[in-house]
Amino acid sequence: MIFPIAVYGHPVLRQEAATISPDEPDLAQFIKDMWATMYRTDGIGLAAPQVGRSIRLFVIDLDVFKDEYPELKGFKKVFINAKLETLGKHVKMTEGCLSVPGINKKVHRPDRIRITYQNECFETFTEEYSGFAGRVIQHEYDHIEGKLFIDYLSAFDRIVLRNKLKSIKEGTVQANYKIIRTEHCTDA
Ligand code: NI
Repeated sequence: MIFPIAVYGHPVLRQEAATISPDEPDLAQFIKDMWATMYRTDGIGLAAPQVGRSIRLFVIDLDVFKDEYPELKGFKKVFINAKLETLGKHVKMTEGCLSVPGINKKVHRPDRIRITYQNECFETFTEEYSGFAGRVIQHEYDHIEGKLFIDYLSAFDRIVLRNKLKSIKEGTVQANYKIIRTEHCTDA
């Protein structure tokens, strides 16, 4: 199935996601549905909290960039229970996110990372990435830690984007995929 996407304002995006074991219910089908949802929404990465499931799992497919970055040919991975360490100096790169529709901004992040994770067969790997792959992995990893790329924006950018963010939060934003409307408490 194609999942609807939780957008900015939804509490699931702010939770630290749970570690999972191979006994996690319906995991194989869930991973299939994650890929289907990611391709349908033209994403290159998708994290489980973005579809409302707070578990430490994200998927990334960067093969589409193989002409520009030959080292990304065949890069299609499921990252489970990832732990990430940042290395290297900070660089600026433009980011966007299915959970923050209509906003693309330059964000500073370390250029190099080391990640330990399990694949869909629960085999453990430790790998290092830099450049574009390192950037996308950091973005998706943030989702399982309850963070969003807009958290890194300057106070100035935040003021500029205030109305856009408000429209995402209130569910009036336009996106070309289904979004989960945030439930508002009326008597909070
Ligand atoms: Ni994202």
